[in-house]
Amino acid sequence: MIKASTTLALSLLATPLVVAQRQTLTVAASGGNQSSPLLYGTLYEDIYHSGDGGLYAELIRNRAFQGSSQNGQASTVRTTDFWHPIGNVQLSVEQSSPALSPSLTYDLRIDVPSGTTGPIGFYNDGFWGFDVDATKRYAASFSIKGAYNGGVTVGFNNTLSGTQLSKTTIQVNSSDGVWTSVHPAVFQPFSTPGSPNSTFTYIFDGAQLAGKSIQVNLLSVFKQTYKDRPNGVREDLAASFDGLESTWVRLPGGNNMQGLSIGNEWHWDRTYGDLKNRTGHIGTWGDYQTDGFGVLEMMQWATDSNQTLVLGIFAGLHIGGALVTEDNLGGYVDSTMNYLEFLKGDTSTTWGARRANLGFPIPFKIDHIEIGNEDYLNGGTESYNTYRFKAFYDRIRAEYPDITLISSISPPPISGPNTWADLHFYYNQDTFASLYDRFDNSDRSLPIVVGEYACIFEFSNGYPEIGAQTMGMALAEGIMLLGAERNSDIVKGTAYGALIKQYDEMSSTVSVIKHTANQILQTTSYYLQQTFSRYKGTETVAVTSEFGSGIGPLYWSATRAGSTRYLKLINYYGVDSVVDIVFEGPYSSTVKVITLTAPACNSTNSLPQLGGESTSILHSELDESDGKFTVSFRSPCELKVVIA
Ligand code: AHR
Repeated sequence: MIKASTTLALSLLATPLVVAQRQTLTVAASGGNQSSPLLYGTLYEDIYHSGDGGLYAELIRNRAFQGSSQNGQASTVRTTDFWHPIGNVQLSVEQSSPALSPSLTYDLRIDVPSGTTGPIGFYNDGFWGFDVDATKRYAASFSIKGAYNGGVTVGFNNTLSGTQLSKTTIQVNSSDGVWTSVHPAVFQPFSTPGSPNSTFTYIFDGAQLAGKSIQVNLLSVFKQTYKDRPNGVREDLAASFDGLESTWVRLPGGNNMQGLSIGNEWHWDRTYGDLKNRTGHIGTWGDYQTDGFGVLEMMQWATDSNQTLVLGIFAGLHIGGALVTEDNLGGYVDSTMNYLEFLKGDTSTTWGARRANLGFPIPFKIDHIEIGNEDYLNGGTESYNTYRFKAFYDRIRAEYPDITLISSISPPPISGPNTWADLHFYYNQDTFASLYDRFDNSDRSLPIVVGEYACIFEFSNGYPEIGAQTMGMALAEGIMLLGAERNSDIVKGTAYGALIKQYDEMSSTVSVIKHTANQILQTTSYYLQQTFSRYKGTETVAVTSEFGSGIGPLYWSATRAGSTRYLKLINYYGVDSVVDIVFEGPYSSTVKVITLTAPACNSTNSLPQLGGESTSILHSELDESDGKFTVSFRSPCELKVVIA
């Protein structure tokens, strides 16, 4: 087992470096169990601006005065947050009469003093600024109430240099007491400042409005979107996600799907259609959510990104602790059945026809549903096991017998061949590394997903989360993934705990991707997952060592697709580790080696402007010598994939 002859406890590293004895790994020629095609996926939920201000390509913050964040909690308190006056005008948020719609009932009121002349107006801060790019198209629109007949000049302004970065004049002819929709004006900026320090301004002729007031609402600026989808997602973030090579995504959460309290669980039927009809809701993670990135936009994005969809549905337990009683659960189950028809039904069905009328004629392919999320929290286990799971299970099974149902508690309250269980792993490095053999002796009749994982402490002594995952943390996650891959006859999928978070808001908690208005940080975990996903076979392959199954500093797993074998090797805090590899059966005398490396085990990736990425991916070749291939690790923290 452990063949460590020396253990060096370096004072700078909590995880000790280990000198491994050189060993020979023999990789079998034939395959074993089928590998799950899903394996490497993600959880999407709107957490710390993954949706609003993240994937969702809307650039205006607080565009419809739906709610705000108060002391870190999402709230329905309406504010002028992120809006500022230009000139001597007063901004306030007021209840509209008449309202723009029954859902958007507040507006931004601009009072202009008598005697005003010259330009007046207001500007928005965006989500920590704006990404202004002269090579891209933008579209600005808004609704206005109040008499105004003239030009409204909108555009980006650089706050550092004072330079105008775009300028578009929209002709408006609006009247008192009625709302006028100003349709999207499409423009391209003059220049690309390269920093997000910009605002978006709206300038009116002050003389025309002197002594009067106007109201505005649903002020929107979209940058061109991924695949040009209307109301779609940010191109750069979608491309980064595609680069991850994720195969499946569970959405829309997570704790955010559960909601903090009754009424704030995910209501799919409040998130489609005209943006004027989306009230938004109190999000779990501190922000009021616009619901602009609604059910159809989410499904479209995930489908465009070729993801297998795993629909997360509310099962009666709020993350704040409130529980839906058995008597009251029926309405939620009915709603779920309508939801499934809305997503999966053809146009002959009531809800399928409604979806088609909204511009989505093709049903979404949803073959996996998770009933609830972490239903063991807040005393939820008993109700889940006695009535909550069953209520959803019975109705879904009756109508969609082939859908895989995933229980958020293991084992599932009702077992069956296409009923899986979801495990969540949020542990420190040492614990992650110990999960290498976690699935080796698991019940083969119970398929599982590790539906959320993230290494959240750098050190085992409880040192808190750090700004970005280290290479050591990513490799610890990788050791767990090796165990999942070796056992993927039952481990059907794994998913990182948070896909995307906004860096300015949450630089210090883990996620695969972090973003600012105009930059992206792909973490060490991103590259580890990408490498695992890119180089995987369809069957597991046995690997033997003269020392046994391998417990540090070297960990491995092998798969094959046809005649190509992929041997993954993780060197985890190992000093000068060397391993000899023997491939049984036919093989080429030269193999390819992919190396994911970083200068040190505690290296992290940073935003481009803060130093960029420490990780690199190297491609090399290795020749056979004496019937074996000798792999040497240059860094104590490294992943190698040998492709034979
Ligand atoms: O990733 C953040 C949260 O962690 C998820 O919403 C929840 O399921 C888990 O506890």
